[in-house]
Amino acid sequence: MSEKKNTLAIERTFTMIKPDGVERGLIGEILGRFEKRGLKIIALKMVKPSVEHIDNHYPKDDTWIARLGDKGFNCFAEYGLNPKEVMGTDNNLEAGKMVRQWLVDYMIEAPVVAMVIEGIHAIEMVRKITGSTLPNKAEIGTIRGDFSVDSPAAANLNKRSIKNLIHASETKAEAENEIKHWFSEEEIHPDYDRADHAAMF
Ligand code: TYD
Repeated sequence: MSEKKNTLAIERTFTMIKPDGVERGLIGEILGRFEKRGLKIIALKMVKPSVEHIDNHYPKDDTWIARLGDKGFNCFAEYGLNPKEVMGTDNNLEAGKMVRQWLVDYMIEAPVVAMVIEGIHAIEMVRKITGSTLPNKAEIGTIRGDFSVDSPAAANLNKRSIKNLIHASETKAEAENEIKHWFSEEEIHPDYDRADHAAMF
């Protein structure tokens, strides 16, 4: 008699191939890496988002924005750069606001490929396969480590966002909000079985 599997460890996460990934023809490569690891794609679409949609995708609170500024400052310190010379300010919130605007500009440059991925510890797994947010820190073998080279210093010096190929939700709450922001219930298709999963789990 077959027992019903316990699915408590199964999570859903939101992932998006950013404009640089689409423009570089890396859609298939990126999807393949998620699929090969045993993760199940349950929603997928190409979208040219509006400014408003992207603006609402990224958090707007000062804590998040200041953290964005700080991450850049940490990188400047590492490479001996002065925040005032690079950004025109040493205030993390002011710098974070600039970075956020460059991020919005970048995300509307070309279409993105949005998806919902389901699987065991999917939130953490997708972030691991993706690699560190900052390509200069991403391990070889991760998508960012294999296909990108960029840093907050290089990006901010040129008044543009970091090109890091992918967005992936970081927490369960973020995943739930982002899935709702990008997909309707009808666009999500969990009711199919991956043939290899019978052997994997
Ligand atoms: P963050 O929330 O730190 O990363 P993640 O999306 O992986 O959780 O940063 C949001 C985005 O901001 C990230 O995709 C990279 C971008 N970014 C820049 O463009 N410039 C910067 O200086 C920093 C720190 C981040």
